[in-house]
Amino acid sequence: MMQGARQLMKVYVTRRIPQEGMKILTEAGVCKVSVWDSDEPVPRAELLKGVAGAHGLLCLLSDRIDTEVLDAAGPNLKVISTLSVGFDHLAINEIKKRGVRVGYTPDVLTDATAELTVALLLATARRLPEGIDEVKSGGWSSWKPLWLCGYGLSGSTVGVIGLGRIGLAIARRLKPFGVKRLLYSGRSAKPQASEVEGEYVPLDTLLTESDFIVVSCSLTPETQGLCNKEFFSKMKNTAVFINSSRGSVVNQEDLYEALSSGQIAAAGLDVTTPEPLPTDHPLLTLKNCVILPHIGSATYSTRGIMAELSANNLLAGLGGAAMPSELAL
Ligand code: NDP
Ligand code: DGY
Repeated sequence: MMQGARQLMKVYVTRRIPQEGMKILTEAGVCKVSVWDSDEPVPRAELLKGVAGAHGLLCLLSDRIDTEVLDAAGPNLKVISTLSVGFDHLAINEIKKRGVRVGYTPDVLTDATAELTVALLLATARRLPEGIDEVKSGGWSSWKPLWLCGYGLSGSTVGVIGLGRIGLAIARRLKPFGVKRLLYSGRSAKPQASEVEGEYVPLDTLLTESDFIVVSCSLTPETQGLCNKEFFSKMKNTAVFINSSRGSVVNQEDLYEALSSGQIAAAGLDVTTPEPLPTDHPLLTLKNCVILPHIGSATYSTRGIMAELSANNLLAGLGGAAMPSELAL
C-alpha cells in the first residue's frame, strides 16, 4: 500500500512490549499500530478480531499463530515478527504456503539465557531454594556435616543436548567451573564445539556418562517428549537435569517419577507444560525440583533489544526489505 495515498499499513501487536520497540514502530510513519495494551496474553477472540486486515503481526511465544489466526488476518498479511528466538508457536508450513515472511530474535538473548541456565543449574545442584527456605523457616539449627549437600561441577561431566547458540554459550560458561568433559548430542557435530573441547556423542552415551544434563535444543517433532521414562532411566542416580528450551521436550509425568523414585538426583526447569504451571502440579511438591517461570531472556537490556529487533524485522517485512533477522522458511 502506498504511503503517498496516506493509507498506513496496519500492524497488530499482541502485548505491551518494551518501549524501545514501540517507539520504532510508531515513529516509522509507515504503519498504524494497534496493541493489546496489557501485560497479560490477548484472549483468542480479541486476537482474531485485532489481527483482521493486518499487514504485520508482532507476536509473542505465548500466541499460537495457526491457520485460524492467518485466516482471520486475511490476504494483507506480509510479515509475522515474533519477540522470541523459539518459533514452535508458529504454524510454519501454513505461513510459508501463504508467502508470509517471519522475523525472530536469535543471538540477542543468547547471553542472558545462558546465564540464567547456569544460575538454575547451580541453584538446583547446590539446593539453594531449599537452603533459603530452611533459613526463613527456622530449620537451620546448626552447621551440620551431612545437611543440604549437593553436587559440584568441578571434575564433572556435563552433557548438552542441542549445542546451538545458547547451548554453546552455556558450555562456555560452565567450563571454567572445572568441568572435566563436555559432551553434546544433536543432529550433527559442530565445528565450534572445539572451543569448549566438546565431544559429539550419541544421546545414550551422553545420558549414561553425564553428571549434569542441560537441554538447550529447539522444540521440533523429534525433540517433543524426548526426555521420557527411557531417557531418565539411562541417567545416573546422582545426575542433575536442567531444561531451558521448551517444556514439551520433557514428559513431566516421567520426570516426576524419576525425581520421586530417586532415579535422578534433581531437576531445574525454566520451562514447563503448560505455562504457567498450575500451583497444584505434583512437580511443585518435590524439594529436588526447582522451577522458574520462563525467565531465560529476562534482563531489562535483553528484552529492550529483543523489542527493537522485532520492530525492525517487522518494518523490513512491511517494506519488502532484508530483515535484520529473518527466519529461513
Ligand atoms: P539454535 O537453533 O541455535 O539451537 C538449537 C539447537 O537444537 C541446535 O543446535 C540443534 O542441533 C538442536 N536440535 C534440533 N533438533 C535436535 C534434536 N532432534 N536433538 C538434539 N538437538 C537438536 O537455537 P538457540 O540456541 O538460539 O535457542 C534454542 C532454544 O532455546 C529455542 O528454540 C527456544 O526454544 C529456547 N529458548 C528458551 C529461552 C528461555 O527463556 N528459557 C530463551 C531463548 C531460547 P542441530 O544443529 O544439530 O540440529
Ligand atoms: C525465546 O525467545 O524463545 C524464549 O523462550 C524467550 O525469550
